[in-house]
Amino acid sequence: MWDRHPHGYFEGRRAKLFFKTMKLIHRVGVAPDILTTLAYWVLRPRRSEWIVMTNTRREDTPDRDTLAAWHDSTRDIPADLLGDCYTRIGALTGMDSTCKVLDVNCGTSRLSTPLMDSGHEVTGIDTSSAMLEQANSQLQTGWRGSFVHGDATRIQFPEHSFDVAIISRLLLNIGNAGQVTQELSRILRPGGFVIVVHAKNAFDSTPRRHFRDMCDERGYLPQRHKGVRYVISSVFSTLNMTHLQLDVSDLKWTKTMTYRESIEHLRLQLHAEFWLVPPVEYDQMLGQVQEKLARQPGGLETEDILNPTLEVDLYMKPEPAHEPGVRG
Ligand SMILES: C[S@@+](CC[C@H](N)C(=O)[O-])C[C@H]1O[C@@H](n2cnc3c(N)ncnc32)[C@H](O)[C@@H]1O
Repeated sequence: MWDRHPHGYFEGRRAKLFFKTMKLIHRVGVAPDILTTLAYWVLRPRRSEWIVMTNTRREDTPDRDTLAAWHDSTRDIPADLLGDCYTRIGALTGMDSTCKVLDVNCGTSRLSTPLMDSGHEVTGIDTSSAMLEQANSQLQTGWRGSFVHGDATRIQFPEHSFDVAIISRLLLNIGNAGQVTQELSRILRPGGFVIVVHAKNAFDSTPRRHFRDMCDERGYLPQRHKGVRYVISSVFSTLNMTHLQLDVSDLKWTKTMTYRESIEHLRLQLHAEFWLVPPVEYDQMLGQVQEKLARQPGGLETEDILNPTLEVDLYMKPEPAHEPGVRG
């Protein structure tokens, strides 16, 4: 059972009871607003039941246009690994250069560059003009790609327009996973599929771990936080999309990050799981992390060596006969 509440999603017995009660309240029709509020307060999820999935951002969070300039430097999945990954997806699904691909929330087009390089036709959409400008400026002669303004919650293309959709780091920005997945399912042809790309451990730095521990101590991180991967898989399953997990854990790389860089990422609030933390406490805790790490030998110039790996999930849209569709 999934639904949206002002700070995220919740699930479980209390959520089921809440939605049943809501239905009853609306069927009876007496004072629905007051009774709904009452029901929410009695049955609301306890903090440990929340699954953080929110687009609640602090007012001082830089907008995506401001962040576009350095986005590429943080999105450092090596292009050759992505290329290998797409080759494996092709072997499994029959995805080839005749496929039309939609790169949803394309950003600077990092994820679809290897696809265009191998001849795929890619359309990218994003809400940020600065991101799109960078994506278009990177197009090379012979590539079939165009990057245009578009919103993942209301995709401008008609149904069945694409064979493949790619998403990465989208749903934490949006919050309404259900609306996005419905849109993805709509624009895909039957038998088409969504590729969800994730770089596991790409930001698992020492400052972030310290910050996470502090948030945890103060009760800001849900104990049952299952992460965005779990949320995506739950939402797609409600659309009868077949989930294929592709093991690409051997596609890994190494990157270094100074404590100073990680603290800057935290200062810019790039990590959505912390967006629920009230601003004053956020700044306080970040100050403490910074002070503590600055006192260590090497200070803020100390480097973390991170070992990210690729994680890929595929969600296939059923063929009309409700058979899981795999091309080829
Ligand atoms: C963290 S970046 C990821 C970019 C790209 N998918 C990648 O992995 O390199 C998130 C992107 O989502 C875009 N975005 C946020 N909300 C969106 C929406 N409703 N529709 C389309 N794009 C959106 C932002 O502008 C930003 O470019």
